[in-house]
Amino acid sequence: MRAILFGAGGQLAVDLARECRNRGHSVLALRRSQLNIADGAAVRRTIARHNPDWVINAAAYNKVDLAESEPEAAMRVNAFAVRGIAMACAEAGATLLHYSTDHVFGGSKDIPYTEDDLPAPQSVYGVSKLAGEIFARAYCRSHYVLRVAGVFGPPGRYTNHSNFPEFVLRKCAEGVPLRIVDDQFATPTFGTALAARSFDILVERVPFGLYHLSGGEVISWYDFAQKIAAASGCPAEIARTNREAYVTRARRPRYAALSNGRIEAAGIARMPGIDESVGQYIVLRDRELPQR
Ligand SMILES: NC(=O)c1ccc[n+]([C@@H]2O[C@H](COP(=O)([O-])OP(=O)(O)OC[C@H]3O[C@@H](n4cnc5c(N)ncnc54)[C@H](OP(=O)(O)O)[C@@H]3O)[C@@H](O)[C@H]2O)c1
Repeated sequence: MRAILFGAGGQLAVDLARECRNRGHSVLALRRSQLNIADGAAVRRTIARHNPDWVINAAAYNKVDLAESEPEAAMRVNAFAVRGIAMACAEAGATLLHYSTDHVFGGSKDIPYTEDDLPAPQSVYGVSKLAGEIFARAYCRSHYVLRVAGVFGPPGRYTNHSNFPEFVLRKCAEGVPLRIVDDQFATPTFGTALAARSFDILVERVPFGLYHLSGGEVISWYDFAQKIAAASGCPAEIARTNREAYVTRARRPRYAALSNGRIEAAGIARMPGIDESVGQYIVLRDRELPQR
């Protein structure tokens, strides 16, 4: 099969490109410098010229706090660009795989959100990603929209936007004490496992639609940080804080866990639990070091 991958410089995209090639498919992986997804004409030309079976959009405007002062930029990449990609996919007869986020939810629940729960985003980022989902679903019938959360893939060791484990590991290595919220919960998603399941979905032709596909366990960010430090063996000073004391520009859902029930019922393997994911992350991040 032939794939086009947008946002190829990102942490998830690196794992996606590797997974695609390892499975024997061909992939045209385009970084932002090679294709800006907000350039609708270039997107349309690229998809028409390469005539792919799959178009995977891993590009996103992910600066959650900055988006509060740059709503147009967030909407351009996370919403309107997705409309252009979806239209081009429909025209070319390609299947679109697009990623969304747990930030589409308000965070007032105490049990994991399902696809049937009503979104209630609290931030520009959340609104822009929800708009992107809606555009993908409206303009391309052959779509998979996967909601993921707190993605941490080993390529985050060197990609521009990094991830939470790298932040924790960097501070530990520098001996800088950390304060992490213990009253905010998510299902952090191991990027390597997400990449593998993304291709399972495409290859096994799961029914098109919207799915949650995040980590296999609900955890607070404080507990997640502790597990990362413990798995790395790096002595860490991690103190508890809470949402009232640790205020960010963008509002984040207090409880944003996602239930993977629908995608599992469609035959996709369970995501690994947090200990297994963090353990594998620590091993695989060494693979991302530049080769001598
Ligand atoms: N990271 C998370 O915690 C998280 C949580 C929930 C959902 N997600 C979703 O998961 C998907 C993958 O995220 P990720 O963690 O791999 O993000 P990432 O590491 O930040 O990668 C995103 C990539 O998109 C590129 N990009 C930004 N604007 C672009 C544009 N206009 N045209 C082309 N490329 C552009 C970025 O390029 P530059 O490096 O040049 O900026 C970057 O390489 C995204 O849809 C994201 O919203 C991520």
